[in-house]
Amino acid sequence: MTPRYSRITGTGSHLPPRRVTNDDLVAELAGRGVETSNEWIVERTGIRARHFAAPDVAASDLALPAAQAAMQAAGVQPADIDLIVVATSTPDMVFPSTAAILQHKLGIAGCPAFDVQAVCSGFVYALAVADALIANGTARRALVIGAEVFSRILDFNDRTTCVLFGDGAGAVVLEASDAPGILATDLHADGRHVGILCVPGHVSGGQVLGEPLLKMDGQAVFKLAVGVLDKAARAVLAKAGKTEADIDWLIPHQANIRIMQGTARKLHLPLEKVVVTVQDHGNTSAASIPLALDHGVRSGQVKPGQTVLLEGVGGGFTWGAVLLKM
Ligand code: UT7
Repeated sequence: MTPRYSRITGTGSHLPPRRVTNDDLVAELAGRGVETSNEWIVERTGIRARHFAAPDVAASDLALPAAQAAMQAAGVQPADIDLIVVATSTPDMVFPSTAAILQHKLGIAGCPAFDVQAVCSGFVYALAVADALIANGTARRALVIGAEVFSRILDFNDRTTCVLFGDGAGAVVLEASDAPGILATDLHADGRHVGILCVPGHVSGGQVLGEPLLKMDGQAVFKLAVGVLDKAARAVLAKAGKTEADIDWLIPHQANIRIMQGTARKLHLPLEKVVVTVQDHGNTSAASIPLALDHGVRSGQVKPGQTVLLEGVGGGFTWGAVLLKM
């Protein structure tokens, strides 16, 4: 029997229209007595702007245009989709899933739809899950999406976190194929580090208990991130029987330019082979990799047949990589 692979046939993304530059944010935070500067943000993170969704816009609202753009690029209709996986840590509701809400917004029904919660590694997790479901014959044409409204969980009195994150969505259509496509995946989590990046609040008895805003020990995350990303990259290359020299593009989670530079250096990749979009949208958690991928494809950098390494790292602690041929 011919092995079933999966392949990305279309990409799409969407950023909400409200663009907030570092200077805009500096001015807004100054009004609260919170001191920061464009220089600090650019030097420490590479971020120059982020987009914030309007109060009535949910993750599924950002996911919809991203999904539509990916479907248009793939030349498929909503009715052709037989699996929806949404990676998000800022879902529309506690339940049902943002994927189910998105399915309804796409005007389709019946196919499986669920969310994956792996914070900033979410898109890599979602892609690996969708790949497995295509490989075992459960689905033939999946929408895999990362969508976030992180502005909802930011503490705008905490300058160490609120300058870092933004809202957005990115999507791919992943289709069954006789040839890969996805070459290998590698996923990990280590729950010992739950506390270094979390939103500790929860809903109980009709109330939010605990702190419902993002907390991060940035330095602890930074140190762990560079080490695990390198391990995941090497693992996924080994699984696919490839080496660093085979990588045409590294598309990492867009959290901090210094983490991306560190990862590229360890892989002996020049920065010219890294798709970097963090300057335009900040850290959009699960949306950042598909946003960067879509940018790479639409700008003509990432071309059919090229080998691409996607890497994510985030709360949990979670991390993972996907090696694929476009
Ligand atoms: O998406 C999931 C993965 N998340 C990440 O990858 C984030 C990983 N961490 C990071 O990217 C970095 O650790 C940060 C960007 C969060 C922080 O950069 P850093 O170089 O580690 O800075 P730091 O935490 O060591 O802080 C240095 C100084 C401190 O002041 P003192 O103690 O040296 O006087 C902070 O209080 O910078 C200060 N600081 C700020 N100053 C101006 C922290 N935030 C700000 C700010 N503006 N927004």
